[in-house]
Amino acid sequence: PSARLVVDPAFRIGEVDPRLYGSFVEHLGRCVYTGIYEPGHPTADQDGFREDVAELTRELGVPILRYPGGNFVSGYRWEDGIGPKDQRPTRLDLAWRSVESNEVGTDEFCRWTRQVGSAPMLAVNLGTRGVDAAAALVEYCNHPGGTYWSDLRRKNGAADPHDVRVWCLGNEMDGDWQIGHKTADEYGRLAAETAKAMRLVDPTLELVACGSSNSRMPTFGSWEATILEHCYEYVDYVSLHSYYQERDGDKASFLASALDMDTFIDAIVATADHVRAKGRHKKRINLSFDEWNIWYQVGTEMSHDWAHAPRLVEDEYTLTDAVVVGNLLISLLRHADRVSMACLAQLVNAIGAIRSEPNGAAWRQSIFHPFALTSRYGRGTVLRTAATGPSYETAWFGEVPVLDSVAVESPDGTAVTVFAVNRDQRESLPLTVDLRGYPGLAVAHHTYVGDGDPQATNTAAHPNRVAPRTAAPSTVEGGKLEISLPPLSWNMIRVS
Ligand code: AHR
Repeated sequence: PSARLVVDPAFRIGEVDPRLYGSFVEHLGRCVYTGIYEPGHPTADQDGFREDVAELTRELGVPILRYPGGNFVSGYRWEDGIGPKDQRPTRLDLAWRSVESNEVGTDEFCRWTRQVGSAPMLAVNLGTRGVDAAAALVEYCNHPGGTYWSDLRRKNGAADPHDVRVWCLGNEMDGDWQIGHKTADEYGRLAAETAKAMRLVDPTLELVACGSSNSRMPTFGSWEATILEHCYEYVDYVSLHSYYQERDGDKASFLASALDMDTFIDAIVATADHVRAKGRHKKRINLSFDEWNIWYQVGTEMSHDWAHAPRLVEDEYTLTDAVVVGNLLISLLRHADRVSMACLAQLVNAIGAIRSEPNGAAWRQSIFHPFALTSRYGRGTVLRTAATGPSYETAWFGEVPVLDSVAVESPDGTAVTVFAVNRDQRESLPLTVDLRGYPGLAVAHHTYVGDGDPQATNTAAHPNRVAPRTAAPSTVEGGKLEISLPPLSWNMIRVS
């Protein structure tokens, strides 16, 4: 069997917001401590941040970084993380049963994001705290000076405001595991009032309301409708979170996880638009998919001994996981008209794209590769690809296409990049790409992530076991490109 797809400039979905390629740094396990930050590490800079991890972060290409949580933020006092380090309190982090030293806080993180070519997306605590603490944090970060909080920031070494544009109004407030968990009405009211106060401090903010923690939550759908009825006019985005994993060895279903992401996004767009219609609102609420990844959730991994920076949720990603991550990016791109931001959760060690060892090496996990390449080349105008081809049966989703794809026209219009996965675990997929709508395109460069071993991983000993491979260039003949997608592979075909 073979597949065919048509790429045409008329099939425009929308422009890619670069913030679609965000990631997430939570005070969880070793994401911060011995992840991005480790004074005494051979590569540490003068602020104690690891240059090897910083360099990989630049290469990953993450224009926005969510911080400091996650579940962590719902018990966080941001004031603990500012000022002289030797005066910062050590606290119990109840979310992950860890000890938090507060050596890294808002100032350090905002400074570091700029150094790695990114921007901060801060979450405020709406679990144990509320309007006052959130408004004060905005004043601390964004007000130029001459007030208590802004002058304190200046005293702490940041003369210029951190200029934080995007703020999350709490985290997963629908989940009963969340510290300060709320009903939809309670959260909706609090989000509205917090948003109002934050905007009074800085009217230019972009605000994200908490959507459902995942689409299996009992309140899924009604949660979004209820909270948006309270806060529609005060917020710009609603969040989505979703983690995927292979269950019971069913790779065929796992490989089709992007279908679930598609359905989830479509459901939240429909719900937000329902509230818009009902409330006769003019503006549209867009989506911030600010936590997504593969996560092998085997029980609830918690630290039991109140350790500082324990090894938590350090998933080791396989080639198969890389293909699925690449496919989830295709799903996000396919919804570029409504999904403005997304954060791969997380950046380092804790379900991280990057791994690092204390006093040791840092390396790219398998999932790093499709992400970095999509972030680099998936900029411009997203095009729907009209595809036909074989399908296969799955337990989770029924009949599923073997091929999934999307295309992106470069900002200058001189290149088109097709992102495609072959979900067939055994057979290559011959593919014809019809490019007659782009008569100027001549040569295709094909990069793929595929391997004979679906379980292949990158480790400290073998950090490049899973890496992108390059096929021989091919030419467009009579407006058509003939190419072959290896079994179980993520592919990037760049035609110029
Ligand atoms: O990313 C790990 C955790 O997953 C986050 O803290 C939480 O928001 C989600 O449940």
